[in-house]
Order: sequence, then C-alpha cells, then structure tokens
Amino acid sequence: MRKKIVAGNWKMNKNLQEGLSLATELNEALKGKTVNCDVVIGTPFIHLASVAKAIDTTKIGVSAQNCADKASGAYTGEVSAEMVASTGATYVILGHSERRAYYHETPEILKEKVLLALANNLTPIFCIGEVLAEREAEKHFEVVKSQIQDSLFGLSEEDFGKIVLAYEPVWAIGTGKTATADQAQEMHAFIRKILADKYGQAVADNTSILYGGSCNASNAKELFANPDVDGGLIGGASLGVDKFMPIIEAF
Ligand code: PGA
Repeated sequence: MRKKIVAGNWKMNKNLQEGLSLATELNEALKGKTVNCDVVIGTPFIHLASVAKAIDTTKIGVSAQNCADKASGAYTGEVSAEMVASTGATYVILGHSERRAYYHETPEILKEKVLLALANNLTPIFCIGEVLAEREAEKHFEVVKSQIQDSLFGLSEEDFGKIVLAYEPVWAIGTGKTATADQAQEMHAFIRKILADKYGQAVADNTSILYGGSCNASNAKELFANPDVDGGLIGGASLGVDKFMPIIEAF
C-alpha cells in the first residue's frame, strides 16, 4: 500500500545553525514515538549534509528543494542530483510553483531534473497545481493533467513508481487560504485516475499524493482523512516543531 508522508518544505528560511536546531529538535520530539507516516524535511542545500548527520535518517528523511537539470560540469552556482545524494539526502522537491514562476522552470527542464534525481536514487516529490485564474476559469484539471503528462509520462512504469506527487494549488500556498477537504479529494482522485489510465490501477494505487498549501495543525486531520490524500507538503507550518508535530500526528 502507498506511503503516508508528511514533508516539510523550509524554503529559503533558517540559517545553518537555526536549521540544525530545528532538525535536532524534531529528531528529539520523534524519539521513541511511533508515528503513522513517514516524515521528511526539505532544507536548503547547504544544510543537507549537517542535518543528515545530526538526525536519525531512518526516522526523518532529508530532502533538497531543487537540483540541477544537468549532471555535472560548467554550471556555476548549480547543485547536481548526485551532490544532493552524496549528503545523505534521499528526496528532492521538484517543480515547486515558486521555482516554476520565479526561476522559469519549464516542463522540459523538470523532466531532466526528474531523470537525474531518479538516476541518483533520490525520490522526487513532484509538485503540480493551478493558479487562481486557472481555477476560476475551471481549467484546473486540465492544467494539472498537462503538468503531470509533460514532465512525467515519459517515465517507465518502474520509474514512475518511485515518484511522490504533491498537489499544491498555487492560490493556497502561503496565503492561509487552504483548499477545502472536498476540493483536495476531488483533485487527488482525478490525479489517481490519470495515473491509472496511463500506468494501470496498481501503480496509481501505490503512488503517494500529498496536499500542500496552508496545511496546518488545525486543518491537517480533515485533509488527511480523505481517501486519496496521502499526506502533506508543509511550508510555513514546518518551521517550528510545535507546529509541525501536530501535523505529523494528524495521521
Ligand atoms: P505553505 O507552503 O504550507 O506555507 O502554504 C506549502 C508549499 O509551498 O510547499
């Protein structure tokens, strides 16, 4: 059966010392506790190696928030999937709407990033989601379908089986305006149907689809209670253990 996952996305927050404190505090909070989901933290690149060393990575997976679309070479300032993997990180968030919007990441670029992540045994947490205007024009299903098709449907069935999806309606990210449990369920069921049509029901049933966008301690339980919502990608509420733990415990 597919995994339940609660993943934090720290974005560009916390310097190295602050990040290490947050990670070790979370590690302490989880010690000796049985939780009903996998826990992941997505830190800035420079935190990855120190965080991976400081925590029990069998209990908390470490994730990058991006990787390069090239394997290696003269790409000043870039960080490759191989480098990410060499830190002890095992996940990478790809296609986040902030990267698509501010850093012009296209479906073609994302396709390359996914392939490199998989080649380096990283689990991509691949983000999809419509902007407000697209939802208002009732184009949200179409938009999400092409985001998945354009970057992921070239993958073999075996490789697709390694992908985690995160549905993040852009209008809900950092706005405090979360999708309703019904809106989330409706889209997640739609996504699972597209996956079933392309890769078969077994692959669709085994793919974890997370919800992201103003998910917090007070709405997580209701969102995660939906049959097709397999967890959350959490931004703001992952920046403090007091806010993040109740989301983990919502399962
Ligand atoms: P948020 O961000 O929880 O702060 O809305 C979610 C995300 O962008 O992954």
